[in-house]
Amino acid sequence: MIKDKSVIVTGAASGIGSACARQLLADGNRVVAVDLDRERLSAELGDETDALKFTAGDVARTATADRAAKTAVDAFYTIDGLAHFAAAHSKLNWESADEDEFNRILSTNVTGSFLMAKAAAKVMIDQGVKGAMVLTASGGVLMGGTGENGRGGPAYTTSKGGVLVLVRTLAKSWGKYGIRVNAISPGVVKTAMTSEYSDEAMEGAAARAALGRVSQPEEQAAAAIWLLSDEAGFITGENTNINGGAAFG
Ligand SMILES: NC(=O)c1ccc[n+]([C@@H]2O[C@H](COP(=O)([O-])OP(=O)(O)OC[C@H]3O[C@@H](n4cnc5c(N)ncnc54)[C@H](O)[C@@H]3O)[C@@H](O)[C@H]2O)c1
Repeated sequence: MIKDKSVIVTGAASGIGSACARQLLADGNRVVAVDLDRERLSAELGDETDALKFTAGDVARTATADRAAKTAVDAFYTIDGLAHFAAAHSKLNWESADEDEFNRILSTNVTGSFLMAKAAAKVMIDQGVKGAMVLTASGGVLMGGTGENGRGGPAYTTSKGGVLVLVRTLAKSWGKYGIRVNAISPGVVKTAMTSEYSDEAMEGAAARAALGRVSQPEEQAAAAIWLLSDEAGFITGENTNINGGAAFG
């Protein structure tokens, strides 16, 4: 648990990001919630308050990342954490995925992760804040993804592999400032992103997990929040699989 911190949460209008923003607010933190549009942020999280500010925009644009960081500094003076969940899914298989699809997914998922982390780190480094960040990869990194049954295809799983390398790289770059950067790799979670999965894919995912079920978004959010906390103070550059003991491979 963390308390009384200023945290930027992306992808906050849905799924894991929404669960994370709600938990952080319930625990007495201040949140800048980021997603593509303001209406969906309001619909999901309610109106802005003293502890909740919105930044609408595409995380793969420098302007959005910088605006989110500025919103946090203007409203809450600093940034203690980044919980970055915003991502685009692609179920296209290798034959259907083309240049545009690959570029779109890599841009949102890899460039977006980099720009959000960079904008937060600049504030942390300037202010001497020993902050923490969590970026989101995927179980698909371990098992690969062909795009069958609505599941992630090559563009999506490749982008999430990129996030893991980015996490290790940024952890090395910013360790000297006391800034920690980690990844979570969710297994299958019941959110809008998996709403297109076939019943067979959902049942298969549950069967593969030792716990015999798919995950709820709150379980992913809780792990991300723990990685942001001081209890995880000597963990950086790591990936945590949160998949209920799924036997990937
Ligand atoms: N749901 C799963 O089974 C699962 C599994 C592995 C990894 N993940 C990862 O977990 C994270 C959260 O996924 P989720 O299941 O909550 O998905 P979701 O679709 O419910 O939420 C994702 C949110 O990100 C936002 N978003 C997408 N592109 C954006 C952009 N360019 N700029 C700003 N916001 C953008 C969407 O509007 C949406 O609100 C993602 O990184 C996803 O890849 C999810």
